[in-house]
Amino acid sequence: MADQIVVKEDKELAVQPEEKKKTISLDEMVPSQIVAELNKYVIGQEKAKRTIAVALRNRTRRKRLPDKIREEVYPKNIIMIGPTGVGKTEIARRIARLSNAPFIKVEATKYTEVGYVGRDVESMVRDLMGSAVSMVRRELAAENAKAVESRVEERILDLLIPNVNSTANTDVQFDNARISAREQIRAQLRAGLLDNTEVEIPSQLMRPKVGIELMGGTMDDIQNAMNSLGSIFQNAAQGGPRNRKRKVSVKRARELFTEEESERSVDQEKANEIAKERTEQMGIIFIDEIDKIAGKNSSSSSPDVSREGVQRDILPIVEGTKVTTKWGVIDTSHILFIAAGAFHVSKPSDLIPELQGRFPLRVELDALSADDFFRILKEPENAITLQYKELLKTEGVDVVFTDEAIHRVSEIAYEVNSTTENIGARRLYTIMETLLDDLSFNASEMGGQTVEITREYVDERLSDVVKNQDLSRYIL
Ligand SMILES: Nc1ncnc2c1ncn2[C@@H]1O[C@H](COP(=O)(O)OP(=O)(O)OP(=O)(O)O)[C@@H](O)[C@H]1O
Ligand SMILES: [Mg+2]
Repeated sequence: MADQIVVKEDKELAVQPEEKKKTISLDEMVPSQIVAELNKYVIGQEKAKRTIAVALRNRTRRKRLPDKIREEVYPKNIIMIGPTGVGKTEIARRIARLSNAPFIKVEATKYTEVGYVGRDVESMVRDLMGSAVSMVRRELAAENAKAVESRVEERILDLLIPNVNSTANTDVQFDNARISAREQIRAQLRAGLLDNTEVEIPSQLMRPKVGIELMGGTMDDIQNAMNSLGSIFQNAAQGGPRNRKRKVSVKRARELFTEEESERSVDQEKANEIAKERTEQMGIIFIDEIDKIAGKNSSSSSPDVSREGVQRDILPIVEGTKVTTKWGVIDTSHILFIAAGAFHVSKPSDLIPELQGRFPLRVELDALSADDFFRILKEPENAITLQYKELLKTEGVDVVFTDEAIHRVSEIAYEVNSTTENIGARRLYTIMETLLDDLSFNASEMGGQTVEITREYVDERLSDVVKNQDLSRYIL
Protein backbone atom coordinates (compact mmCIF):
# COMPACT_ATOMS: atom_id res chain seq x y z
CA MET A 1 0.00 0.00 0.00
CA ALA A 2 2.47 2.56 1.16
CA ASP A 3 4.65 1.66 -1.81
CA GLN A 4 2.37 3.69 -3.99
CA ILE A 5 3.71 6.90 -2.58
CA VAL A 6 6.19 8.44 -4.94
CA VAL A 7 8.01 11.27 -3.43
CA LYS A 8 8.24 13.68 -6.29
CA GLU A 9 4.82 13.29 -7.80
CA ASP A 10 2.43 16.10 -7.23
CA LYS A 11 -0.63 14.00 -6.97
CA GLU A 12 0.76 11.50 -4.54
CA LEU A 13 2.12 14.16 -2.25
CA ALA A 14 -1.30 15.65 -1.98
CA VAL A 15 -2.88 12.52 -0.60
CA GLN A 16 -4.62 13.37 2.62
CA PRO A 17 -7.08 10.61 3.20
CA GLU A 18 -9.37 12.26 5.73
CA GLU A 19 -9.32 15.75 4.37
CA LYS A 20 -9.58 14.83 0.75
CA LYS A 21 -13.31 14.57 0.58
CA LYS A 22 -13.88 17.91 2.22
CA THR A 23 -11.40 20.19 0.56
CA ILE A 24 -8.87 20.16 -2.17
CA SER A 25 -5.37 20.38 -0.90
CA LEU A 26 -3.34 23.51 -1.11
CA ASP A 27 -1.13 22.03 -3.82
CA GLU A 28 -3.97 21.90 -6.22
CA MET A 29 -5.51 25.24 -5.37
CA VAL A 30 -5.21 28.08 -7.83
CA PRO A 31 -4.73 31.58 -6.39
CA SER A 32 -8.38 32.52 -6.63
CA GLN A 33 -9.33 29.44 -4.67
CA ILE A 34 -6.79 30.19 -1.98
CA VAL A 35 -8.16 33.72 -1.69
CA ALA A 36 -11.71 32.39 -1.55
CA GLU A 37 -10.69 30.05 1.24
CA LEU A 38 -9.07 32.89 3.20
CA ASN A 39 -12.13 35.05 2.61
CA LYS A 40 -14.13 32.70 4.77
CA TYR A 41 -12.23 33.92 7.80
CA VAL A 42 -10.39 37.11 7.03
CA ILE A 43 -12.24 40.24 5.99
CA GLY A 44 -10.64 42.67 3.54
CA GLN A 45 -6.85 42.72 3.18
CA GLU A 46 -7.18 41.76 -0.47
CA LYS A 47 -3.62 42.70 -1.39
CA ALA A 48 -2.10 40.51 1.27
CA LYS A 49 -4.29 37.57 0.37
CA ARG A 50 -3.41 37.91 -3.29
CA THR A 51 0.31 38.09 -2.71
CA ILE A 52 0.28 35.08 -0.47
CA ALA A 53 -1.90 33.12 -2.84
CA VAL A 54 0.55 33.77 -5.66
CA ALA A 55 3.53 32.83 -3.53
CA LEU A 56 1.87 29.57 -2.56
CA ARG A 57 0.89 28.77 -6.11
CA ASN A 58 4.40 29.47 -7.28
CA ARG A 59 5.61 26.57 -5.23
CA THR A 60 3.32 24.20 -7.04
CA ARG A 61 4.45 25.69 -10.32
CA ARG A 62 8.03 25.26 -9.31
CA LYS A 63 7.51 21.62 -8.48
CA ARG A 64 6.42 21.05 -12.05
CA LEU A 65 9.61 22.41 -13.52
CA PRO A 66 12.36 20.17 -14.82
CA ASP A 67 14.91 19.41 -12.12
CA LYS A 68 17.57 21.68 -13.48
CA ILE A 69 15.55 24.88 -13.60
CA ARG A 70 13.74 24.00 -10.44
CA GLU A 71 16.88 24.23 -8.36
CA GLU A 72 17.37 27.79 -9.58
CA VAL A 73 13.93 29.07 -8.67
CA TYR A 74 13.91 30.40 -5.14
CA PRO A 75 10.79 31.33 -3.24
CA LYS A 76 9.91 35.00 -2.97
CA ASN A 77 9.59 35.61 0.71
CA ILE A 78 6.99 38.03 1.97
CA ILE A 79 6.76 40.65 4.69
CA MET A 80 3.27 41.62 5.81
CA ILE A 81 3.17 45.07 7.32
CA GLY A 82 0.19 46.52 9.11
CA PRO A 83 -1.10 47.97 12.33
CA THR A 84 -1.97 45.75 15.24
CA GLY A 85 -5.10 43.60 15.15
CA VAL A 86 -5.84 43.76 11.44
CA GLY A 87 -5.39 40.11 10.57
CA LYS A 88 -1.71 39.40 9.98
CA THR A 89 -1.49 36.48 12.34
CA GLU A 90 -4.99 35.40 11.44
CA ILE A 91 -3.99 34.99 7.78
CA ALA A 92 -1.10 32.79 8.86
CA ARG A 93 -3.35 30.69 11.06
CA ARG A 94 -5.70 30.09 8.17
CA ILE A 95 -2.98 29.13 5.73
CA ALA A 96 -1.80 26.61 8.26
CA ARG A 97 -5.22 25.02 8.33
CA LEU A 98 -5.70 24.67 4.60
CA SER A 99 -2.19 23.74 3.93
CA ASN A 100 -0.96 20.23 3.45
CA ALA A 101 2.42 21.81 3.26
CA PRO A 102 4.37 21.69 6.50
CA PHE A 103 3.81 24.98 8.30
CA ILE A 104 4.95 26.50 11.54
CA LYS A 105 4.67 29.91 13.11
CA VAL A 106 7.35 31.36 15.34
CA GLU A 107 7.69 34.68 17.13
CA ALA A 108 10.92 36.43 16.28
CA THR A 109 11.03 37.85 19.80
CA LYS A 110 11.47 34.37 21.20
CA TYR A 111 15.06 34.37 20.02
CA THR A 112 15.93 37.58 21.82
CA GLU A 113 15.08 36.10 25.18
CA VAL A 114 17.83 35.50 27.64
CA GLY A 115 19.03 31.95 27.49
CA TYR A 116 18.69 31.55 23.77
CA VAL A 117 21.83 31.34 21.77
CA GLY A 118 22.38 31.70 18.08
CA ARG A 119 21.96 28.14 16.98
CA ASP A 120 18.55 27.95 18.54
CA VAL A 121 17.20 29.88 15.62
CA GLU A 122 17.66 26.65 13.74
CA SER A 123 15.03 25.09 15.95
CA MET A 124 12.41 26.60 13.66
CA VAL A 125 13.57 24.28 10.92
CA ARG A 126 13.61 21.32 13.27
CA ASP A 127 10.08 22.12 14.38
CA LEU A 128 8.97 22.39 10.77
CA MET A 129 10.45 19.00 9.97
CA GLY A 130 8.92 17.59 13.13
CA SER A 131 5.48 18.69 12.09
CA ALA A 132 6.02 17.29 8.61
CA VAL A 133 7.07 13.94 10.04
CA SER A 134 3.97 13.61 12.15
CA MET A 135 1.80 14.76 9.26
CA VAL A 136 3.25 12.12 6.95
CA ARG A 137 3.07 9.42 9.60
CA ARG A 138 -0.59 10.19 10.14
CA GLU A 139 -1.24 9.94 6.43
CA LEU A 140 0.61 6.69 6.03
CA ALA A 141 -1.09 5.24 9.09
CA ALA A 142 -4.46 6.23 7.71
CA GLU A 143 -3.75 4.08 4.67
CA ASN A 144 -3.27 1.11 6.96
CA ALA A 145 -6.25 1.94 9.12
CA LYS A 146 -8.13 -1.25 8.24
CA ALA A 147 -5.26 -3.56 9.02
CA VAL A 148 -4.48 -1.69 12.21
CA GLU A 149 -8.06 -1.93 13.33
CA SER A 150 -8.22 -5.67 12.91
CA ARG A 151 -4.90 -6.20 14.66
CA VAL A 152 -6.10 -4.11 17.57
CA GLU A 153 -9.28 -6.15 17.73
CA GLU A 154 -7.35 -9.41 17.88
CA ARG A 155 -5.15 -8.09 20.64
CA ILE A 156 -8.13 -7.06 22.71
CA LEU A 157 -9.80 -10.42 22.12
CA ASP A 158 -6.65 -12.13 23.32
CA LEU A 159 -6.94 -10.16 26.53
CA LEU A 160 -10.61 -10.85 26.98
CA ILE A 161 -10.32 -14.57 26.37
CA PRO A 162 -7.64 -15.94 28.65
CA ASN A 163 -5.37 -18.24 26.74
CA VAL A 164 -6.07 -21.86 27.60
CA ASN A 165 -3.04 -24.05 27.39
CA SER A 166 -3.49 -25.41 23.89
CA THR A 167 -1.33 -28.52 24.26
CA ALA A 168 -3.56 -29.87 26.97
CA ASN A 169 -6.70 -29.76 24.87
CA THR A 170 -6.09 -30.80 21.33
CA ASP A 171 -9.45 -32.22 20.39
CA VAL A 172 -11.27 -30.54 17.56
CA GLN A 173 -14.50 -30.01 19.42
CA PHE A 174 -12.85 -27.91 22.07
CA ASP A 175 -11.15 -25.80 19.46
CA ASN A 176 -14.43 -25.16 17.69
CA ALA A 177 -16.11 -24.13 20.90
CA ARG A 178 -13.30 -21.74 21.58
CA ILE A 179 -13.48 -20.22 18.14
CA SER A 180 -17.20 -19.66 18.37
CA ALA A 181 -16.85 -18.10 21.81
CA ARG A 182 -14.28 -15.77 20.35
CA GLU A 183 -16.64 -14.80 17.56
CA GLN A 184 -19.41 -14.09 20.03
CA ILE A 185 -17.19 -11.86 22.06
CA ARG A 186 -16.02 -10.19 18.89
CA ALA A 187 -19.59 -9.31 18.05
CA GLN A 188 -20.13 -7.85 21.51
CA LEU A 189 -16.92 -5.93 21.23
CA ARG A 190 -17.92 -4.45 17.90
CA ALA A 191 -21.27 -3.44 19.28
CA GLY A 192 -19.41 -1.50 21.96
CA LEU A 193 -20.90 -3.62 24.75
CA LEU A 194 -17.54 -4.32 26.33
CA ASP A 195 -16.14 -0.79 26.26
CA ASN A 196 -16.14 -0.48 30.03
CA THR A 197 -14.84 -3.96 30.76
CA GLU A 198 -11.42 -3.92 32.35
CA VAL A 199 -8.43 -5.62 30.84
CA GLU A 200 -4.80 -5.80 31.86
CA ILE A 201 -2.17 -4.32 29.62
CA PRO A 202 1.58 -3.96 30.03
CA SER A 203 2.17 -0.69 31.80
CA GLN A 204 4.95 0.44 29.51
CA LEU A 205 2.25 1.23 26.99
CA MET A 206 0.91 3.92 29.25
CA ARG A 207 3.98 6.11 29.33
CA PRO A 208 4.62 8.73 26.68
CA LYS A 209 7.70 7.75 24.77
CA VAL A 210 10.46 10.24 25.28
CA GLY A 211 13.37 9.86 22.95
CA ILE A 212 16.69 11.03 24.19
CA GLU A 213 17.96 13.54 21.76
CA LEU A 214 20.88 15.68 22.63
CA MET A 215 22.04 16.64 19.18
CA GLY A 216 20.85 20.12 18.51
CA GLY A 217 18.61 19.95 21.51
CA THR A 218 17.28 22.88 23.49
CA MET A 219 17.06 23.13 27.24
CA ASP A 220 13.60 21.61 27.07
CA ASP A 221 14.87 18.57 25.24
CA ILE A 222 17.62 18.10 27.75
CA GLN A 223 15.12 18.41 30.56
CA ASN A 224 12.95 15.75 28.92
CA ALA A 225 15.92 13.49 28.48
CA MET A 226 16.78 13.85 32.14
CA ASN A 227 13.25 12.99 33.11
CA SER A 228 13.16 9.91 30.97
CA LEU A 229 16.48 8.78 32.37
CA GLY A 230 14.96 9.22 35.79
CA SER A 231 12.06 7.00 34.93
CA ILE A 232 14.34 4.31 33.54
CA PHE A 233 16.12 4.09 36.87
CA GLN A 234 12.85 4.08 38.68
CA ASN A 235 11.59 1.25 36.54
CA ALA A 236 14.73 -0.76 37.10
CA ALA A 237 14.29 -0.36 40.82
CA GLN A 238 10.77 -1.66 40.60
CA GLY A 239 11.65 -4.75 38.66
CA GLY A 240 11.48 -3.31 35.15
CA PRO A 241 8.47 -2.03 33.26
CA ARG A 242 7.91 -5.21 31.31
CA ASN A 243 6.62 -7.17 34.24
CA ARG A 244 4.14 -4.63 35.40
CA LYS A 245 0.56 -4.63 34.28
CA ARG A 246 -2.15 -2.11 34.54
CA LYS A 247 -5.90 -2.32 34.42
CA VAL A 248 -7.64 -0.13 31.89
CA SER A 249 -11.01 -0.16 30.16
CA VAL A 250 -11.33 -1.85 26.78
CA LYS A 251 -11.99 1.56 25.33
CA ARG A 252 -8.70 2.94 26.59
CA ALA A 253 -6.85 -0.21 25.60
CA ARG A 254 -8.16 0.22 22.10
CA GLU A 255 -6.79 3.76 21.94
CA LEU A 256 -3.40 2.70 23.22
CA PHE A 257 -3.15 -0.32 20.94
CA THR A 258 -4.29 1.72 17.96
CA GLU A 259 -1.57 4.22 18.63
CA GLU A 260 1.02 1.51 18.93
CA GLU A 261 -0.13 -0.49 15.93
CA SER A 262 -0.41 2.60 13.73
CA GLU A 263 3.11 3.51 14.58
CA ARG A 264 4.25 -0.01 13.86
CA SER A 265 2.40 -0.11 10.54
CA VAL A 266 4.26 2.89 9.22
CA ASP A 267 7.62 2.51 7.60
CA GLN A 268 9.45 5.19 9.58
CA GLU A 269 12.28 5.50 7.09
CA LYS A 270 9.90 6.15 4.27
CA ALA A 271 7.88 8.60 6.37
CA ASN A 272 11.03 10.54 7.14
CA GLU A 273 12.01 10.60 3.51
CA ILE A 274 8.67 11.95 2.34
CA ALA A 275 8.61 14.44 5.21
CA LYS A 276 12.08 15.70 4.35
CA GLU A 277 11.12 16.20 0.72
CA ARG A 278 7.97 18.02 1.71
CA THR A 279 9.72 20.22 4.23
CA GLU A 280 12.41 21.24 1.79
CA GLN A 281 10.17 21.78 -1.20
CA MET A 282 6.87 22.94 0.32
CA GLY A 283 7.64 24.06 3.87
CA ILE A 284 6.42 27.42 5.08
CA ILE A 285 7.81 29.25 8.11
CA PHE A 286 5.85 32.19 9.40
CA ILE A 287 7.96 34.61 11.43
CA ASP A 288 5.65 36.82 13.43
CA GLU A 289 6.61 40.06 15.17
CA ILE A 290 9.64 40.56 12.98
CA ASP A 291 9.50 44.29 13.58
CA LYS A 292 10.52 43.61 17.16
CA ILE A 293 13.96 42.50 16.07
CA ALA A 294 14.41 45.38 13.64
CA GLY A 295 16.02 48.64 14.59
CA LYS A 296 19.14 49.70 16.33
CA ASN A 297 20.13 47.86 19.40
CA SER A 298 18.67 49.44 22.44
CA SER A 299 21.04 50.34 25.24
CA SER A 300 23.81 47.86 25.75
CA SER A 301 22.62 47.28 29.30
CA SER A 302 19.56 45.47 27.92
CA PRO A 303 19.55 41.83 28.94
CA ASP A 304 18.16 40.78 25.55
CA VAL A 305 20.33 39.14 22.98
CA SER A 306 21.00 41.83 20.43
CA ARG A 307 18.25 42.13 17.88
CA GLU A 308 20.69 42.52 15.10
CA GLY A 309 22.31 39.35 16.33
CA VAL A 310 19.05 37.51 15.91
CA GLN A 311 18.67 38.89 12.41
CA ARG A 312 22.14 37.64 11.59
CA ASP A 313 21.26 34.25 12.98
CA ILE A 314 18.08 34.08 10.93
CA LEU A 315 19.78 35.22 7.77
CA PRO A 316 21.54 31.98 6.79
CA ILE A 317 18.36 30.01 7.31
CA VAL A 318 16.45 32.31 5.03
CA GLU A 319 19.28 32.37 2.52
CA GLY A 320 19.52 28.64 2.46
CA THR A 321 21.61 26.52 4.73
CA LYS A 322 21.74 22.98 6.00
CA VAL A 323 20.23 22.29 9.37
CA THR A 324 20.86 19.06 11.22
CA THR A 325 17.81 17.42 12.70
CA LYS A 326 17.29 14.01 14.17
CA TRP A 327 15.60 13.03 10.92
CA GLY A 328 18.48 14.06 8.74
CA VAL A 329 19.92 17.21 7.25
CA ILE A 330 17.41 19.73 5.94
CA ASP A 331 18.27 22.18 3.19
CA THR A 332 16.36 25.41 3.79
CA SER A 333 16.93 27.00 0.36
CA HIS A 334 13.40 26.49 -0.85
CA ILE A 335 11.41 26.96 2.29
CA LEU A 336 8.99 29.87 1.99
CA PHE A 337 9.28 32.50 4.70
CA ILE A 338 6.45 34.84 5.49
CA ALA A 339 7.24 37.51 8.04
CA ALA A 340 4.83 39.91 9.67
CA GLY A 341 5.07 42.90 11.88
CA ALA A 342 3.30 46.09 12.81
CA PHE A 343 6.41 48.21 12.22
CA HIS A 344 5.08 50.97 14.44
CA VAL A 345 8.43 52.05 15.75
CA SER A 346 10.83 50.47 13.34
CA LYS A 347 10.58 50.22 9.56
CA PRO A 348 11.43 47.38 7.24
CA SER A 349 14.45 49.43 6.20
CA ASP A 350 15.73 49.05 9.76
CA LEU A 351 16.30 45.38 9.14
CA ILE A 352 19.81 44.53 8.11
CA PRO A 353 20.12 44.93 4.33
CA GLU A 354 20.89 41.28 3.67
CA LEU A 355 17.67 40.27 5.37
CA GLN A 356 15.62 42.92 3.57
CA GLY A 357 16.86 41.51 0.30
CA ARG A 358 15.62 38.10 1.27
CA PHE A 359 12.08 39.39 1.67
CA PRO A 360 11.44 41.04 -1.67
CA LEU A 361 7.66 41.10 -1.43
CA ARG A 362 6.10 43.66 0.85
CA VAL A 363 2.40 43.88 1.41
CA GLU A 364 0.62 46.37 3.54
CA LEU A 365 -2.48 45.48 5.44
CA ASP A 366 -5.02 48.23 5.84
CA ALA A 367 -6.38 49.62 9.06
CA LEU A 368 -9.91 48.39 9.58
CA SER A 369 -12.94 50.63 9.10
CA ALA A 370 -16.30 50.47 10.87
CA ASP A 371 -17.67 48.63 7.84
CA ASP A 372 -14.93 46.04 8.13
CA PHE A 373 -15.84 45.59 11.78
CA PHE A 374 -19.43 44.99 10.81
CA ARG A 375 -18.38 42.25 8.44
CA ILE A 376 -15.91 40.76 10.90
CA LEU A 377 -18.66 40.52 13.50
CA LYS A 378 -21.01 38.87 11.11
CA GLU A 379 -19.46 37.09 8.17
CA PRO A 380 -16.56 34.78 9.03
CA GLU A 381 -17.42 31.14 9.62
CA ASN A 382 -16.23 31.62 13.17
CA ALA A 383 -17.73 35.12 13.56
CA ILE A 384 -17.86 36.48 17.10
CA THR A 385 -21.64 36.89 17.06
CA LEU A 386 -22.04 33.29 15.96
CA GLN A 387 -19.77 32.14 18.76
CA TYR A 388 -21.89 33.90 21.39
CA LYS A 389 -25.06 32.61 19.82
CA GLU A 390 -23.82 29.03 19.94
CA LEU A 391 -22.48 29.36 23.46
CA LEU A 392 -25.78 30.65 24.80
CA LYS A 393 -27.73 28.14 22.80
CA THR A 394 -26.24 25.47 25.03
CA GLU A 395 -28.24 27.11 27.85
CA GLY A 396 -31.39 27.05 25.75
CA VAL A 397 -31.26 30.80 25.12
CA ASP A 398 -31.72 31.99 21.57
CA VAL A 399 -29.81 35.21 20.97
CA VAL A 400 -30.60 37.19 17.85
CA PHE A 401 -28.38 40.06 16.76
CA THR A 402 -30.10 42.62 14.56
CA ASP A 403 -28.00 44.25 11.85
CA GLU A 404 -28.57 47.65 13.44
CA ALA A 405 -27.11 46.38 16.67
CA ILE A 406 -24.05 45.01 14.91
CA HIS A 407 -23.67 48.32 13.07
CA ARG A 408 -23.80 50.16 16.34
CA VAL A 409 -21.18 47.89 17.88
CA SER A 410 -18.89 48.45 14.89
CA GLU A 411 -19.28 52.21 15.17
CA ILE A 412 -18.49 52.09 18.85
CA ALA A 413 -15.45 49.91 18.24
CA TYR A 414 -14.20 52.31 15.62
CA GLU A 415 -14.82 55.27 17.88
CA VAL A 416 -13.06 53.79 20.85
CA ASN A 417 -10.17 52.75 18.64
CA SER A 418 -9.73 56.32 17.44
CA THR A 419 -10.14 58.00 20.79
CA THR A 420 -8.04 55.67 22.88
CA GLU A 421 -5.66 53.22 21.33
CA ASN A 422 -6.14 51.51 17.99
CA ILE A 423 -6.03 47.80 18.65
CA GLY A 424 -7.89 46.82 15.50
CA ALA A 425 -10.37 43.99 15.54
CA ARG A 426 -9.29 42.94 19.01
CA ARG A 427 -11.47 45.82 20.22
CA LEU A 428 -14.51 43.88 19.15
CA TYR A 429 -13.84 41.18 21.69
CA THR A 430 -13.77 43.51 24.68
CA ILE A 431 -16.83 45.38 23.48
CA MET A 432 -18.86 42.25 22.87
CA GLU A 433 -17.85 40.94 26.25
CA THR A 434 -19.06 44.12 27.97
CA LEU A 435 -22.21 44.16 25.89
CA LEU A 436 -23.21 40.63 26.77
CA ASP A 437 -21.93 40.65 30.31
CA ASP A 438 -25.39 40.49 31.95
CA LEU A 439 -26.70 38.00 29.51
CA SER A 440 -23.74 35.67 29.95
CA PHE A 441 -24.19 35.82 33.69
CA ASN A 442 -27.91 35.15 33.71
CA ALA A 443 -28.31 32.88 30.71
CA SER A 444 -28.24 29.69 32.75
CA GLU A 445 -31.57 30.66 34.34
CA MET A 446 -33.13 31.89 31.12
CA GLY A 447 -33.64 28.64 29.23
CA GLY A 448 -36.32 28.80 26.55
CA GLN A 449 -36.15 32.55 26.06
CA THR A 450 -35.27 34.49 22.96
CA VAL A 451 -33.19 37.60 23.44
CA GLU A 452 -33.01 40.13 20.68
CA ILE A 453 -29.96 42.36 20.72
CA THR A 454 -31.13 45.63 19.21
CA ARG A 455 -29.52 48.98 18.65
CA GLU A 456 -31.24 50.24 21.82
CA TYR A 457 -29.87 47.32 23.79
CA VAL A 458 -26.38 48.22 22.63
CA ASP A 459 -26.78 51.92 23.41
CA GLU A 460 -28.23 51.19 26.78
CA ARG A 461 -25.28 49.10 27.79
CA LEU A 462 -22.41 50.83 26.11
CA SER A 463 -23.02 54.48 25.44
CA ASP A 464 -22.16 55.63 28.94
CA VAL A 465 -18.90 53.80 28.84
CA VAL A 466 -18.07 55.16 25.42
CA LYS A 467 -18.81 58.76 26.39
CA ASN A 468 -16.52 58.56 29.35
CA GLN A 469 -13.05 58.23 27.91
CA ASP A 470 -11.44 57.29 31.17
CA LEU A 471 -13.93 54.55 31.67
CA SER A 472 -13.57 53.16 28.19
CA ARG A 473 -9.83 53.11 28.54
CA TYR A 474 -10.27 50.57 31.30
CA ILE A 475 -13.33 48.67 30.23
CA LEU A 476 -13.39 48.49 26.44
N1 LIG B 1 -9.39 41.28 8.66
C1 LIG B 1 -9.86 40.51 9.64
N2 LIG B 1 -10.88 39.66 9.42
C2 LIG B 1 -11.35 38.89 10.41
N3 LIG B 1 -10.90 38.87 11.66
C3 LIG B 1 -9.88 39.71 11.95
C4 LIG B 1 -9.32 40.55 10.95
N4 LIG B 1 -8.34 41.25 11.53
C5 LIG B 1 -8.27 40.85 12.79
N5 LIG B 1 -9.19 39.92 13.07
C6 LIG B 1 -9.40 39.28 14.37
O1 LIG B 1 -8.74 40.04 15.37
C7 LIG B 1 -7.87 39.28 16.15
C8 LIG B 1 -6.47 39.79 16.10
O2 LIG B 1 -5.95 39.69 14.79
P1 LIG B 1 -4.47 39.21 14.47
O3 LIG B 1 -4.01 38.29 15.52
O4 LIG B 1 -4.41 38.73 13.09
O5 LIG B 1 -3.70 40.59 14.60
P2 LIG B 1 -2.28 40.99 14.00
O6 LIG B 1 -2.52 41.74 12.74
O7 LIG B 1 -1.42 39.81 13.93
O8 LIG B 1 -1.80 42.03 15.11
P3 LIG B 1 -0.38 42.14 15.87
O9 LIG B 1 0.47 43.03 15.04
O10 LIG B 1 -0.75 42.78 17.16
O11 LIG B 1 0.15 40.79 16.04
C9 LIG B 1 -7.96 37.87 15.63
O12 LIG B 1 -8.63 37.07 16.55
C10 LIG B 1 -8.74 37.94 14.35
O13 LIG B 1 -9.71 36.92 14.32
MG1 LIG C 1 0.07 39.07 15.21
